[in-house]
Amino acid sequence: MSIEGKVALVTGGSGALGRVYALTLANKGCNIAVTGHSKLEKAEAVAEEIRALGRKAAAVKMDVSNLDEVQAGVQKIGAELGPVDILVNNAAFGIVRAVTLVNMSKADWDRDLAVNLTGAFNTIKCCLPGMLERGWGRIVNISSISGTMGGIGQCSYAATKAGLIGLTKTVALEGARKGVTCNAVVLGVFWGGSFYEVAPEFRERIIKRLAMRRAGDPQEVANVVAFLASEEASYVTGEAIEVSGGANLFTF
Ligand SMILES: NC(=O)c1ccc[n+]([C@@H]2O[C@H](COP(=O)([O-])OP(=O)(O)OC[C@H]3O[C@@H](n4cnc5c(N)ncnc54)[C@H](O)[C@@H]3O)[C@@H](O)[C@H]2O)c1
Repeated sequence: MSIEGKVALVTGGSGALGRVYALTLANKGCNIAVTGHSKLEKAEAVAEEIRALGRKAAAVKMDVSNLDEVQAGVQKIGAELGPVDILVNNAAFGIVRAVTLVNMSKADWDRDLAVNLTGAFNTIKCCLPGMLERGWGRIVNISSISGTMGGIGQCSYAATKAGLIGLTKTVALEGARKGVTCNAVVLGVFWGGSFYEVAPEFRERIIKRLAMRRAGDPQEVANVVAFLASEEASYVTGEAIEVSGGANLFTF
């Protein structure tokens, strides 16, 4: 797919799925910025893997909830790799905690919104102007079926993942005539990250209600992210594409 030489920023790119997005985009010819929000060791390790593929990479400290840090990070990426052409908003907080709304603290709610939703606003705010100016850009927001179906104990997480879809459609409209597309990928469950932390009996119950009766391999969603980031996806915008092995089908 023709994205050779483009610069991609993958937030949370040292996480389980983010790393696979970063490597997949690198394999398609992109130079990649991977962020870490507290320590940079994991982001550095992924950057090394990318360099081993013959691409340029930068590990950048960026707490996405902090606009100043995002601004500084995007500037650093510009200096090291060039301006961001592809933005994958993958960073998220608090995927596994199950806390009912009645028991959720306002502080936890605020933090989840700040990272998962305001975080995407912050990165888009810093990357979109350059994309519009250059007349080419791809934004892929990582949502979840929690956002489209809800989830017990996931009120803040579900609200942010639903919010990302509204944000996606609006950014898509604002970039539509200027070469910038914005899409959301709505994930089901994938082996990696938070799903490993779910108790085994819960994992089994979740998998039983999926039409494909299996959790996804991270590469199966990375392929969709890479397509949406590509030149070939030029006429796809404002979509929320579910990649879930049929989680929303009537399964029995
Ligand atoms: N694994 C799944 O089954 C699944 C399902 C649906 C959606 N998702 C979504 O996929 C994405 C990645 O999830 P994962 O399973 O790889 O989890 P993960 O915990 O491995 O990755 C999350 C990443 O976000 C980063 N992050 C957290 N807070 C941050 C902050 N303030 N600033 C910057 N980065 C921050 C973490 O450092 C980590 O790298 C998330 O958006 C998640 O909601 C995952």
